[in-house]
Amino acid sequence: MSTFEKRNIISMRDFTKDEILHVLEVAKVMDEEPSKYAHALEGKILATLFFEPSTRTRLSFESAMLRLGGGTMGFADPGSSSSKKGESLSDSIKIVESYADVIAMRHPVEGSARLASEIADIPILNAGDGSNQHPSQTFLDLYTIQQEKGTLEGLKVGFMGDLKYGRTVHSLANALGQFGCELLFVSPKGLEMPSDSLEELARMGGKFKEFENFEEAKGDLDILYVTRIQRERFGDDLDYDKVREGYNISKKFLEGCSPDLRILHPLPRVDELSAEVDETPHALYFRQAANGIPTRMALIALVMGMVS
Ligand code: CP
Repeated sequence: MSTFEKRNIISMRDFTKDEILHVLEVAKVMDEEPSKYAHALEGKILATLFFEPSTRTRLSFESAMLRLGGGTMGFADPGSSSSKKGESLSDSIKIVESYADVIAMRHPVEGSARLASEIADIPILNAGDGSNQHPSQTFLDLYTIQQEKGTLEGLKVGFMGDLKYGRTVHSLANALGQFGCELLFVSPKGLEMPSDSLEELARMGGKFKEFENFEEAKGDLDILYVTRIQRERFGDDLDYDKVREGYNISKKFLEGCSPDLRILHPLPRVDELSAEVDETPHALYFRQAANGIPTRMALIALVMGMVS
C-alpha cells in the first residue's frame, strides 16, 4: 500500500481496495477518539476553494480541520475571488499553495482537481469536479454502509436518479466494483450511467444491470443510493423540466422493499425523496452526512502525514 502522506485525493480510481479499507479504519479511530487528535494539526491551514455551491462538503471539511486543531480559510463563492476578474485556476492554485498546507477544492470543470494537483506541491482534496468524481463523499458513503451492514463485500446496491451527471454515483460505483457488489442502476430516460463508466465496471469484473423502473430492481436490495437531478448540469431548463418529476421515494414507493433496506442520499434533496421517509428505519442519509466529519478528518490527517 502506498503511503498517504502528501497524496492527492482526486478519484476513487486511484485507490486499491486495501487503501480504501485503511482510510475507513482511520475514520473509525477519528470517530471513536476525536479528542486524541484535537491538537494534531495545530499551526496547519486548510484552504477551501469552492467554485460551486456546497453546504456539507465545505463545512464538514472545515469542521474536520478545526477538530484536528488546524485553521481554515477560503471562499464559498467564486464571485468573491479573483477568478471573477479572470484569474486562471492554475494561477489561483500557485498562490494559495503558498498560504495553506492542504487544499479542498470544488470546481465545475471535470479534471480540474487533477490539474490543480499537477500544479500544487501540497495535497489537493477533490471536493467534486463537475460530473466526474467526489471521492471524499465516497469515503463517507462507504464508511456509512460498512457501519450499517458490517461489510462492504457482496452487497446488492441500487442507484436511482441522475446517473449521468451524478459525480457521487460515479465515484461510489468505482469503489463498490472492487468489493464484489452487485450494482443495479435505475434512472429516467436520458440520465443513464455513462457508457464509459459501465465499460470500466465491466473491465473490473463488476456485476451490474440497468433497469427502467424501480419495481423490477427493488427485490432484496441492501442499499438504495438516491440522487437528485443535477439541474446545474443541464444546458437548458426545458430539458430539465422533461425529467424533473421522473421519480419520488415515498413510504408508498417503498412498500414491498426489504425491512433491512437502507437509503443513502448525498443530499441536498429536492423532490426525489419525501420527508416522510425520514422517520422510517430505511433513512440513513442524515447519519451519512454526519459521517463526513470522521472520514474527512481521516483524509486530512493521512495526507498531512499525521497518521499513517
Ligand atoms: N453531498 C454534497 O456534496 O453536498 P454539498 O453539495 O452540500 O457539499
